[in-house]
Amino acid sequence: MAQQVRGVVAPGRGEPVRIETITIPDPGPGEAVVRIQACGVCHTDLHYREGGINDEFPFLLGHEAAGVVETVGEGVTGVAPGDFVVLNWRAVCGQCRACLRGRPWYCFDTHNAARKMTLSDGTELSPALGIGAFADKTLVAAGQCTKVDPEAKPAAAGLLGCGVMAGLGAALNTGAVGRGDSVAVIGCGGVGAAAVLGARLAGAARIIAVDLDERKLAAAASLGATHTVHAGAAGTDVVAAVQELTGGFGADVVIDAVGRPETYKQAFYARDLAGTVVLVGVPTPEMRLELPLLDVFGRGGSLKSSWYGDCLPSRDFPMLIDLYLQGRLDLDAFVSETIPLDGVEAAFEKMHHGDVLRSVVEF
Ligand SMILES: NC(=O)c1ccc[n+]([C@@H]2O[C@H](COP(=O)([O-])OP(=O)(O)OC[C@H]3O[C@@H](n4cnc5c(N)ncnc54)[C@H](O)[C@@H]3O)[C@@H](O)[C@H]2O)c1
Ligand SMILES: [Zn+2]
Ligand SMILES: [Zn+2]
Repeated sequence: MAQQVRGVVAPGRGEPVRIETITIPDPGPGEAVVRIQACGVCHTDLHYREGGINDEFPFLLGHEAAGVVETVGEGVTGVAPGDFVVLNWRAVCGQCRACLRGRPWYCFDTHNAARKMTLSDGTELSPALGIGAFADKTLVAAGQCTKVDPEAKPAAAGLLGCGVMAGLGAALNTGAVGRGDSVAVIGCGGVGAAAVLGARLAGAARIIAVDLDERKLAAAASLGATHTVHAGAAGTDVVAAVQELTGGFGADVVIDAVGRPETYKQAFYARDLAGTVVLVGVPTPEMRLELPLLDVFGRGGSLKSSWYGDCLPSRDFPMLIDLYLQGRLDLDAFVSETIPLDGVEAAFEKMHHGDVLRSVVEF
């Protein structure tokens, strides 16, 4: 039986979000309905609201979520009603050329639910990142549900569903930070702060946090940054500052968690010869990058992009939740505040002013 629940909908480009009654169909084959317990507010939700992702309004926002599986459709074997799950936007297909080569974290054909959630007048909703979890319940492909230890707090666990995983994975998976490495992270919001945590988990010896906001630098320091650089301070040259903190050479891995041409250039030049740049911040379509090609060649190393931290949810989520429960991965530090479902618009405002790492809607 289809059900009516509350959901946060972005009705049109730049318009404030509002709570609507939405209809959740029964799960089709390979699908699951999940009762949401917590869902973080991510920059990408705001990008959707502003029309920065695509024009497929109305959107059902929210995608960093944890909850409990309520019902499953035909043929679902991976999860069952009652399972505590973190939702992901990488339900791998197992059949595309990336999956067949044994690199499912690059899967080019990830699954979402085929059935549609709608407004009460029947208008189809586009769920953010195929999830749509600022809602009492949502419909997803069963592969989007990753079972984790139910001891974890939903508000913290859900954050693995997007930004925090993106940052952790930028360091652990894409950047392949190793024991003793030096790492610089440019931009220490939710994603960059998680990259700092990932670098620490990987055993980096020196972790340099760079941001324009003192509050973000303080948070990064408490998560394990060994040095901080205030990029906006008068006379600060980020590249020179990182070099100075790394014996004059630059860092082994530099993670750009802002995603602008100027921060990318800083990352490019703040890395040591043969080092790695990881771009995890998302640029906008009009941005252009110009670099001397001879420098790209001459400095060697690798320039990588990180989508979702190159994570494989089935491999990474349960392991990271275990580390969290052992006190080795402070996911709680990212939960700046918990808010009700009608607090999403205000949370966008706080995010815009840099007041929070994450606001998390609790149900
Ligand atoms: N690649 C992925 O899979 C993925 C996943 C989630 C989010 N993201 C992207 O990551 C980026 C960061 O997300 P977030 O949630 O941390 O955002 P955020 O707004 O919380 O953090 C951005 C931080 O960058 C700082 N900053 C801005 N300009 C700077 C500059 N010139 N120099 C230094 N610091 C600067 C800000 O002060 C802020 O602390 C966004 O672009 C977001 O869309 C990517
Ligand atoms: Zn695939
Ligand atoms: Zn996100």
